[in-house]
Amino acid sequence: MLKDKKIILGISGGIAAYKAAFLIRLFKKAGAEVKVVGTANAFEFITRVTLESLSENKVYDEVFGPENDYTTEHVALTDWGDVFIVAPATANIIGKFANGIADDALSTSLIAFDKKVFLAPAMNCKMYANFAFQRNLDYLKKNNVDVIEPAEGFLACGYEGKGRMEEPEHIFNVVESYFSQEKLSLQNKQILVTAGPTHEAIDPVRYIGNHASGKMGYALAKALANRGAKVNLVSGPVDIQCKHPNIVLTKVTTAEEMYNSCMTHYTTCDAAIMAAAVADYKPKTIHQEKVKKGKNKQMVKLELIPTPDILWAMGEKKEKQVLVGFALETTDEEKNAREKLKNKNLDFIILNSLKDSAAGFGYDTNKITIIDNKNQVFRYPLKDKSEVATDIVDMLEKFLVK
Ligand code: CTP
Repeated sequence: MLKDKKIILGISGGIAAYKAAFLIRLFKKAGAEVKVVGTANAFEFITRVTLESLSENKVYDEVFGPENDYTTEHVALTDWGDVFIVAPATANIIGKFANGIADDALSTSLIAFDKKVFLAPAMNCKMYANFAFQRNLDYLKKNNVDVIEPAEGFLACGYEGKGRMEEPEHIFNVVESYFSQEKLSLQNKQILVTAGPTHEAIDPVRYIGNHASGKMGYALAKALANRGAKVNLVSGPVDIQCKHPNIVLTKVTTAEEMYNSCMTHYTTCDAAIMAAAVADYKPKTIHQEKVKKGKNKQMVKLELIPTPDILWAMGEKKEKQVLVGFALETTDEEKNAREKLKNKNLDFIILNSLKDSAAGFGYDTNKITIIDNKNQVFRYPLKDKSEVATDIVDMLEKFLVK
């Protein structure tokens, strides 16, 4: 989505400027080009060397600097960019922008830019609530500037309140979803996605779990949401941030909780993609107190009972829904996947083999084979999980959008 997009990142002087480094990395990883323009104060918080190394471009910070390619670099730069993001945006730069003041490289470039501008404000909560600042922000919003509202929480100044710049991942998602609006092919579709492992408690300290990281499921949720779908993401315990205007996240722990949450969304959804690695068994009894090993370290037997097979239950209740499952196999891969496709009444199944290096649990990459209900087989090379998600969503579209 962001491949070859040209992004101007404006940085003004606030402590959140350090987060700009992470933001540049996210854009670069997605294949975008980034050029940075900063105020003099921005470089009190983050160095030019950091920004130039990460963006692989010269930083622009002086309107009449001796090293500028052109004396009108603000015009050349703004002709170049597809979008302009100011992160962090201080009260000062927002005030200048709203009032047409151009007295340094960043404010001059902002005024010369006639395409989409995003502002990610960052400041003390009293400054954020200030009447003059709010008037400026309103004026910019009315003029089609997109404001990525700051979060509430602890601020660097010691206060607690609204004013903390949004996390780089969130800013990245907002910009990515702006570009993906060119292809809103799944608008009006409700899609259920599961992700991550489940944990089945043995006692208050231990559980049965697996190595699923949730990366594939979250990448799918994002790819679907970027195409306009409303996504219910039901996730087991993972350490991934997810903030997207089209994604409603429900966090669960056990297979039973995942089953209950999925079933409430299932009847109204148009499709379900089940990427979670659900535990097939759970301990018959959960010990209320920690199980002690005792003096003789005698053998302990754990009695296990099956958990509900969520996808199976969905297959039985299937009406109009497009049902998609995953199969992670170590032997007889295609045979096992075909059996699951048939037994669980699926439209297609995504097979990954643990025998493929850099594919499956924990990796950022995956190598999949898709088998559909007409027994067609589609093999894909090893790709980044976000690209794999695009391939899967492309396949889903063929079933959903006829
Ligand atoms: N699945 C599910 N609920 C379960 C187990 C699996 O919804 N209790 C879903 C998974 O999310 C996946 C598909 O079913 O989409 C296949 O999961 P997998 O673990 O590969 O297969 P199982 O049916 O559990 O069979 P086995 O573990 O014997 O391979």
